[in-house]
Amino acid sequence: MMKELAGTTIVITGASSGIGAATAVACGAAGMNVVLGGRRLDRLEQVSRRVEAVGGATAIVVGDVRDRSNVNELLDAAVDSFGGFDSIFANAGYSMERSFVSMSEDELRAMFETNFFASIGLAREAALRWIESDRVGHVILCSSCVSKFPLPFQGVYAATKGAQALVARAMRHELSPFGIQVSTVHPITTRTEFFDRSAERSGFQRGDLGRDGVPDHAPRLFVQSPERVANAVVQGLRSPRSEIWTSWIVRMASALFTLFPRLQDLVMHRQAAAERGLHRIRRHDG
Ligand SMILES: NC(=O)c1ccc[n+]([C@@H]2O[C@H](COP(=O)([O-])OP(=O)(O)OC[C@H]3O[C@@H](n4cnc5c(N)ncnc54)[C@H](OP(=O)(O)O)[C@@H]3O)[C@@H](O)[C@H]2O)c1
Repeated sequence: MMKELAGTTIVITGASSGIGAATAVACGAAGMNVVLGGRRLDRLEQVSRRVEAVGGATAIVVGDVRDRSNVNELLDAAVDSFGGFDSIFANAGYSMERSFVSMSEDELRAMFETNFFASIGLAREAALRWIESDRVGHVILCSSCVSKFPLPFQGVYAATKGAQALVARAMRHELSPFGIQVSTVHPITTRTEFFDRSAERSGFQRGDLGRDGVPDHAPRLFVQSPERVANAVVQGLRSPRSEIWTSWIVRMASALFTLFPRLQDLVMHRQAAAERGLHRIRRHDG
């Protein structure tokens, strides 16, 4: 049976742009209350206006997901503004395009801090609060298709998403007796600020990775809009499932890669060769 979403409350991290912002608007259109989290107040205010224009209500929490206090600030805002929360979408995340050996220890740990620890930390606190107050809810974590197969120069990013998806899958079965749902979302290449910010962080010029805001190596057939992911998330809220995918072809490819690792190696070898010129392997101590 489809769940009725109108009047329910969702907490979304990384709501200031891309997939998080599009999901906030889609949730607003479904009549939901949305707590918007992110570091850029001006962008959160813009998203808030868009959510309210389509019929949703909002609260804004400015903060960094790496701060331990951010989880409680987000959930407390939902309680103060809307009397509680019914779902969370732990979506804030980022990537760097760099070979593993060229990443410093600090860069490795920082990416795990945002993509892994912050997202599962929000999931844990939300679940504990639901259990302690005898309520049910839905945890959704923004993973990626690369949680299933890494790409060259994105191994650490893939590891953060793979680790997150593994914890989520176990959590799903640990929490099902309490009526709590856990899902992961596995977007493919999505046209957001993600790649520009990744290029900056990786030390590339804007445009080095791709001419139109997404990397050249991503076949244009497989480039999606954030609205497409947002609609899949809302569908996943209405009809909960363990994994929310936006491309059957990539989902099938990930299954084939698992069955036939040499096929995966062939694809990765070609991609690594195509991108090698961009990635000088060197020590980064910072
Ligand atoms: N784009 C893709 O191709 C793609 C594919 C698969 C999965 N994903 C995943 O989708 C999620 C959203 O990415 P996107 O594509 O929408 O990229 P985006 O447009 O760059 O959005 C990233 C969001 O995360 C927030 N964020 C990042 N670090 C944060 C921090 N430390 N504290 C608080 N907020 C933080 C940013 O907000 P502020 O800067 O305002 O803080 C921003 O709202 C990420 O988890 C990403 O890994 C993206």
